[in-house]
Amino acid sequence: MSKVMVLGAGDLGRRVFHELAHGPSDRHVRLVGRDEDATLRAANLTRFSSLQRGYGASVDYATTDLHDIERTAECIAAFDPDVLFLAASFQSWWVITTLPRDAFQRLYAANYGPWLPMHLVPVHKAMRAVRLSGSRAVVVNAAYPDAVHPILHAVGLSPHVGIGNVANNVPGIRVAAADRLGVPVHEVDVRLVAHHYVSHRLSRAGDSGPARMGLTVAHDGTDVADRLDVASLLKSLPLEYRRTGGMPGQAMTAASALSLLEPLADGRDALVHAPGPGGLAGGYPVAIVDGRIRTALPESISPDDAAAINLSGQVQDGITSIQPDGTVHFEPSAMAVLTAELGYECRSMPLAEAEGRAVEIGERFETYRMKNAG
Ligand SMILES: NC(=O)c1ccc[n+]([C@@H]2O[C@H](COP(=O)([O-])OP(=O)(O)OC[C@H]3O[C@@H](n4cnc5c(N)ncnc54)[C@H](OP(=O)(O)O)[C@@H]3O)[C@@H](O)[C@H]2O)c1
Repeated sequence: MSKVMVLGAGDLGRRVFHELAHGPSDRHVRLVGRDEDATLRAANLTRFSSLQRGYGASVDYATTDLHDIERTAECIAAFDPDVLFLAASFQSWWVITTLPRDAFQRLYAANYGPWLPMHLVPVHKAMRAVRLSGSRAVVVNAAYPDAVHPILHAVGLSPHVGIGNVANNVPGIRVAAADRLGVPVHEVDVRLVAHHYVSHRLSRAGDSGPARMGLTVAHDGTDVADRLDVASLLKSLPLEYRRTGGMPGQAMTAASALSLLEPLADGRDALVHAPGPGGLAGGYPVAIVDGRIRTALPESISPDDAAAINLSGQVQDGITSIQPDGTVHFEPSAMAVLTAELGYECRSMPLAEAEGRAVEIGERFETYRMKNAG
């Protein structure tokens, strides 16, 4: 029996847990939240739905608070998962979308980098718990893996791989390419190298903006870029290939997560896309082979070029650099937005200061929310 633990019972964690439970009967899935009543209800909803549809997976739940690292370690050790999916965050991307429109638009201009502590700190705590538990699980993380993983890699605590971001655009690009080539989509192979910034921008603007991206499109193993106008293909993503966004759009992220989690849980090889593999910055094509994860770059993109492509996106996301000890330097122009809106200022952040920064952002954001209440 394969055991999958989903740690973080928010929107994404519950979606992924729900889908995992609608799978083979030799799968045991456990949802871990911090609110007993909400987690029990979510687990039972999934358990009863799965049973109703005739699936046989074992489904249950547990509780912990990530601030309690020892308790979280005990929780992980008690289940001893083969695969651990981290879906916890102090402030998910969608929280600013709940502000009045003007305030949202102003904060949106900061991009994602300045909010880093809200994702980094829970993953750091979870990874300390993983180490303390002695778990040998493959750890897959949803919370800003493009930046969180290289920082935690510096202290030997990176999850094995991330989910989403770079992966979320690949199906749309494949369908658009297949339509233009007039061939079945399963014959089209896309390899995309792109940081979170570019992933986010592609589906909205249909280009990579000032950042670089790496893309190859092959039909039956032959590169067909010369038969496609790639720039106009990408421009079609927010037009005829637009998809539902916002919270309902997290169905796409959940599918991207499952494209990794299910092969890992079921012992299958797969070729997928993911951010932060092995602690790398940004997003890559990755192969799962015998339960191990490695990058699967096309021949035309070298590892050094892929790293440079991803760093160009990282800067546009608001992160100037990540030092070998994990210290982060933020882009002044991105940080200036949070300074103007929240009064928050941080040019440089050693890992040890991230938790204090997360608390400060949380407090300042709550004040901002009250000030901007409609
Ligand atoms: N990579 C991608 O493509 C992609 C796409 C979408 C989302 N994401 C990321 O995935 C993460 C989750 O997103 P979401 O939309 O599911 O967010 P969400 O609905 O806010 O869920 C976050 C969960 O984290 C939990 N949490 C916070 N602090 C905790 C603590 N101390 N101990 C235990 N649990 C704690 C929250 O628990 P409570 O419910 O008790 O507050 C909540 O259930 C975010 O980082 C988000 O940005 C990534």
